Amino acid sequence: MRDSGFPLKVLRLVLCQAAASCGQANLTSMLAPQADRVMALGEWEERWQEDRIGFHQHHVHKMLESHIDKVLAGRTGVRFFFPLCGKAVDMKWLADMGHSVVGVEICEKAIKQFFEENNMTYSEEPVPAIPGAKVYKGSERNISLYQCDLYSFSSSIAGQFGAIWDRGSLVAINPRDREKYAALIISLMTKDCRYLLDTMLYNPELYQGPPFFVPDEQLSSLFGNSCDIKLLHSVGALTDRQRGWGLDDLTENIHLIIPKSI
Ligand SMILES: C[S@@+](CC[C@H](N)C(=O)[O-])C[C@H]1O[C@@H](n2cnc3c(N)ncnc32)[C@H](O)[C@@H]1O
Repeated sequence: MRDSGFPLKVLRLVLCQAAASCGQANLTSMLAPQADRVMALGEWEERWQEDRIGFHQHHVHKMLESHIDKVLAGRTGVRFFFPLCGKAVDMKWLADMGHSVVGVEICEKAIKQFFEENNMTYSEEPVPAIPGAKVYKGSERNISLYQCDLYSFSSSIAGQFGAIWDRGSLVAINPRDREKYAALIISLMTKDCRYLLDTMLYNPELYQGPPFFVPDEQLSSLFGNSCDIKLLHSVGALTDRQRGWGLDDLTENIHLIIPKSI
């Protein structure tokens, strides 16, 4: 074969860069329909006040139950973090198994309902490091729920976590905040943290969210530099609720995200 004079290494580099920028362009166009959608904290408060909380489940989430062994990986007494926790009954389920739970939720009504509906007494105290924030602590179980904006929370408030259950959180924050969100989540992970993440795939042209569409390609760009990401489960999840939003197809994906070992 004749030598073209164009080094193979350079050709590979150019092709890789072209593929990467093509991938980035694809991702940007996939995300475009919801990119500018903003849901203010006050709108979440209104939903709670009006009991428009169709996202709440009265039972332990099936995907958490199915994959709990992979999250625990043989560990006991794990510190779990629940970003945007609502009043998820999963928190009690884990605390009953001897794990501890820290959640963050903006709406006080959600936090109070969590304790009251689960027949748990609690105390409340201010959080000096976050003006206006309060922490609600279960008296019988190791559950502390911070009432504040997630972005004012950090590892300096409650340390790092050995596990994170993210259901209705990455998919609920405003799409433009995803990089900030991922940086916060990574900063909250211990080296052996196992982060279970629930995402939704659907045609974002048909519904404005939340929950928002979060494609797997974006998970790589958000977490892939510092973490390994494994798709554990992918399941059709269309119900009448989502048909009512105008969707014709919905896939729920469960990922296990683990910090790369150095
Ligand atoms: C879709 S719900 C999911 C709740 C819970 N994870 C579940 O699965 O039932 C999202 C929750 O996040 C809360 N929220 C939204 N934005 C927040 C923020 N920036 N900081 C703290 N909480 C927030 C809302 O009040 C709401 O309860």
